[in-house]
Amino acid sequence: MENVFIFDHPLIKHKISILRDKNTGMKEFRELVEEITTIMTYESMRDMQLVPVQVETPLEVTTQYRVPEESIAIVPILRAGLGMVNGVHKVFPTARVGHIGMYRNEETLEPQEYYCKLPDGIADKTVFLVDPMLATGGSACDALNALKKRGCKHIKLMSIIAAPQGVEKVAREHPDVSVYVSTLDRCLNERGYILPGLGDAGDRLFGTK
Ligand code: PRP
Ligand code: URA
Repeated sequence: MENVFIFDHPLIKHKISILRDKNTGMKEFRELVEEITTIMTYESMRDMQLVPVQVETPLEVTTQYRVPEESIAIVPILRAGLGMVNGVHKVFPTARVGHIGMYRNEETLEPQEYYCKLPDGIADKTVFLVDPMLATGGSACDALNALKKRGCKHIKLMSIIAAPQGVEKVAREHPDVSVYVSTLDRCLNERGYILPGLGDAGDRLFGTK
């Protein structure tokens, strides 16, 4: 699984330990998701192609390198992925945002797409597909299929917590996609929840339970 990157960063570990805690409230949970996403974004742009620009310093003209911000898009998988958008925007403030709506059928665990609205020119952009939880991998794989159907070729999937099954499914079905995961957890329970996990990310972000 050479396209799968699992972070082993002390700061991310520290923040995830607080995120997992059932006593962490909605505001702190939301802030932590954003902060972790920003750190992940730094790490996941190591292979990014920069563009050369001529810069005039007070002393001379020099060739320097900049991120082609107009070529970046953020696509959260609704709803929990919304919690990661600001974290990527901290690094790429002008990135356009598309949305893919997906919910898991609680009985079959099968994802259902209910919404898809993407920025113009998405096919030529580097897309950061974001969702804090990669459990069975069904939602991520369907979202990746939806992006590829619209021509996307450069996709980075970022998830904060993943189960081994989810990572394996994405790596098997989408070997061309780079997958960035903050922490790889033990397994899924019989209801498809990640263990030890953090519970339902959408509910904790938006206070719906
Ligand atoms: C959660 C999560 C992922 C999905 C992961 O969303 O945010 O999208 O489950 O599970 P999977 O890998 O097994 O597909 P959920 O369906 O609970 O919707 P929500 O974001 O609206 O809460
Ligand atoms: N979705 C969540 O929000 N949490 C899990 O543990 C699995 C899927």
